[in-house]
Amino acid sequence: MEPSESESLVRQEIRDGIAVWTLDRPNRRNALSRGTLERLIELRSKLPISVRAVVLTGAGDKAFCAGADLKERKEMSEEEVRSLLDLFRSTLHEVDRMPIPTIAAIDGVALGGGFELAMACDFRIIRRTASVGLPEVSLAIIPGAGGTVRLTRLVGEARAKELILLSKRLTAEEAYGLGLAHRIHDTSALEGAMDLAQDLARKAPIAVSAALEAIDGAVCRPQDDALDRERRCYERTLSSQDRIEALSAFVEKRPPRFLGE
Ligand code: COA
Repeated sequence: MEPSESESLVRQEIRDGIAVWTLDRPNRRNALSRGTLERLIELRSKLPISVRAVVLTGAGDKAFCAGADLKERKEMSEEEVRSLLDLFRSTLHEVDRMPIPTIAAIDGVALGGGFELAMACDFRIIRRTASVGLPEVSLAIIPGAGGTVRLTRLVGEARAKELILLSKRLTAEEAYGLGLAHRIHDTSALEGAMDLAQDLARKAPIAVSAALEAIDGAVCRPQDDALDRERRCYERTLSSQDRIEALSAFVEKRPPRFLGE
C-alpha cells in the first residue's frame, strides 16, 4: 500500500524491536515542516510497546536535518510562527521523554531544529564527515526548540554561549570532544546507531526505562528530590521477573533472557 502524504514525511520501519524513523524530505535536506512535526507526534503516540529503541535518521547522506523549514516559515505570520514554536517544543519534549532509548544517527548536517531534535535524543552517533550547529542567531532569531536549554545542559554555559552566539558549526570530532556525540562512525552513523540500538534492546526493558527516568530527573532537580526519584524508579525493577531472571542467570553462569516483565 502506498504511504499517505503524512506517512511519507517520516517513514517508520520496525525490525527486531527497533523502530527506525527516517525524516524523508531530501529535497529540503529533511527540514522540519509543521506536517513533519505532527507526524513525529503521531509516531510517538502509536509506538508499539514491543519496540525497545528508536533510531532517528534522515534520508540521504547530505543531512540528518537542516532544521526548521525556512521556506514554509517565510510564508507564516508572527502568530503562525508562535504556534509552530509551541509544536516544536511539545514534539521535542515527547522525543526527550520517551520511556525507551532514542538514538540520532547523524550522517550529514544537523542544523538548528535538526540539531535540537538530535539533542532531545538520548544518544547521538555521528558520521566522521558530518557536522552540527545552531545557526539561528545568524538568521536573526535564536534556537526556539529547546536548543539554548539542552545545549547548555550538555556542554555548560560557557561553550553554549560560544556555539550559539557565534553560530559555530562543529565537526564530528569537535562534537565528540564536547560530549555532544557519543560515537563517531567512519562510514555510516545509521549503522553505528543500529549496533547501539541492538545492544540496548538486549537489556532488561523495565530497568532501561527506569534508569532513563531517573537520569532525566537528575538533570535539574535538587539532589534529595533526584535521589527520591531514583528510589521510585528502582522500585519498578524490584518487582520485575527480569530481575529474578538476571540473578538466576548469574548463578547459572548463562546469559539472561529478558522479557520486559
Ligand atoms: N528549509 C527549507 N529548505 C531547505 C532548508 C531548510 N532549512 N535547508 C535546505 N533547504 C533546501 C534548499 O533551499 C535547496 O532547495 P532548492 O534545491 O529548491 O534550492 C535544497 O534544500 C538543497 O539545499 P542546498 O543548500 O542546495 O544543499 P547543500 O547540501 O549544499 O546544503 C545545507 C545543505 C543544509 C547546509 C544548507 O541548505 C543550509 O545551510 N540550509 C539552511 C540550514 C539552516 O540555517 N537551518 C536553521 C534553520 S533555523
